[in-house]
Amino acid sequence: PSEKGWLVSKMYQYEGSWYTKGLIQGVLNCQRNFEAKDSDIILATTPKSGTTWLKALLFALIHRNKFLVSCKHPLLVGNPHSLVPYLEAAYRVSPDVSFSELPSPRLMQTHLTYHSLPVSIKSSSCKIVYCCRNPKDMFVSLWHFGRKLSPEETAEYPIEKVVEAFCEGKFVGGPFWDQVLEYWYESRKNPNKVLFVTYEDLKKQTEVEVKRIAEFIGCGFSADEEVSEIVKLCSFESLSKLEVNRQGKLPNGVESNSYFRKGEIGGWRDTLSEFLAEVIDRTTEEKFEGSGLKFSC
Ligand code: A3P
Repeated sequence: PSEKGWLVSKMYQYEGSWYTKGLIQGVLNCQRNFEAKDSDIILATTPKSGTTWLKALLFALIHRNKFLVSCKHPLLVGNPHSLVPYLEAAYRVSPDVSFSELPSPRLMQTHLTYHSLPVSIKSSSCKIVYCCRNPKDMFVSLWHFGRKLSPEETAEYPIEKVVEAFCEGKFVGGPFWDQVLEYWYESRKNPNKVLFVTYEDLKKQTEVEVKRIAEFIGCGFSADEEVSEIVKLCSFESLSKLEVNRQGKLPNGVESNSYFRKGEIGGWRDTLSEFLAEVIDRTTEEKFEGSGLKFSC
């Protein structure tokens, strides 16, 4: 992300999806070298769709028996992105990264589209939790993130041009709609392998969704109390107030607080004109036609 031109310009297409130049090498290394274990849990997302939130929730769920309430929970002292590696970015920095330091079950994240996932992820029994978000909120989140990271580029590309490029598919791991549909169909074909989650459902009925995710990854709950503790620990309100998420930079050079902005549904209204919202809505209608998939916002 520190590279100039990550938002629209200098993006390259590989296997039908778009990536920044630096990330493509990471994608190739990841496809060649990543060996999934049956016990792995892979979080797949479109960028700006709740990756940080899901990283926190999955980490808290998987390791909930290790951390007593009185202990310092890793999520209170570490940013979720430091606790859960982003595969393509890790492979970009180090082509033979092994992830041997990760506790079992290993939890890792990707923005890769389903067809570009390393073969071992698809052929092993590892689980994939996929999360996406309504494209207008996601786009607006990306827009603000991009403005912070690459102000020169945003000055060069007004929002109208970025919406146009987004609707043409230029978006990390995108076209957005194609990626969502691939995981949607995979989740219906193979519900034990892929769980399809949306940011909106997670926001509206957090406990229900967290229980569904926990069941899927094989660590269901017997007591409701535990669920609400995890939901509270990982909430926007809790995480965004922590010192570790307010100050400093992550190893990727991004300021920790960039991953916490508003955390709302429907916030796109403050940024998108009616016209631009319609452009995105029209693309969604065309792309999702006949799929049975709809976003509620
Ligand atoms: P906004 O920019 O709309 O506020 P990602 O983690 O995929 O980069 O997505 C970032 C978006 O998720 C941002 O959305 C951010 O505020 C929101 N977010 C981060 N942590 C969250 C949490 N714990 N609960 C809800 N939303 C969260």
